[in-house]
Amino acid sequence: MTDLSPHARARLCKNLVLGITGAVAASWMPPRLQTLRALVADEVNVVMTRGALRFLTPLAVSAISGQPALTDEDMWNDKRVPHITLSRSADLVLVMPASARILASCARAACDDFLSTLICATPDSTPVVFVPSMNETMWRNRLVTSNVALLRDAGYHVIDPIEGIEVATGHEVYGGMIDMPTLYHTLAAILSQRREESFQDS
Ligand SMILES: Cc1cc2nc3c(=O)[nH]c(=O)nc-3n(C[C@H](O)[C@H](O)[C@H](O)COP(=O)(O)O)c2cc1C
Repeated sequence: MTDLSPHARARLCKNLVLGITGAVAASWMPPRLQTLRALVADEVNVVMTRGALRFLTPLAVSAISGQPALTDEDMWNDKRVPHITLSRSADLVLVMPASARILASCARAACDDFLSTLICATPDSTPVVFVPSMNETMWRNRLVTSNVALLRDAGYHVIDPIEGIEVATGHEVYGGMIDMPTLYHTLAAILSQRREESFQDS
């Protein structure tokens, strides 16, 4: 396994917006959030969807991220207009885990909650990465497949699920989230490609 100790490398970027949605894998995010904070970004702002709130508390998230965990209420109540300010300041937007619902909402620019509105308002130059996690039948559903294709065609990154343990049955099935060392290297490659493109554009 790749060394992910905090002493091994500098963080990849300054500001990460992490969207957590209501896939059951949201329950496993606390240690992953710790890793993202230690290794990927100096500041991690988390936006939790309605579904995520069923699996994880904002208190647990903010205790780890060091920032208030934002929910749909904040889009309406925070005078700083966070779906705009956060999307502008982000170097990277990561949606992990990404539910079938958020894939559909973002693929159609439905902007029906805080996270999908923030993603729609994110400049094209900022990488947006989805890490879907769902039951294999859902992942292979033809409408989910078509939403993933729409997102990829529009320049969003969607990381295929991997084999994992299905919570409902305890069986090894396709549909889990990528492991953190592989995710780290994937994000590093995406950010470095982005920097090269912006250097060529300047
Ligand atoms: C126990 C349970 C587990 C679920 N796991 C998943 C999942 O792994 N992936 C997924 O896309 N949806 C899953 N769902 C369905 C989502 O929670 C549901 O579609 C929800 O509307 C997603 O909302 P959000 O995208 O706003 O978080 C699950 C629902 C329940 C009750």
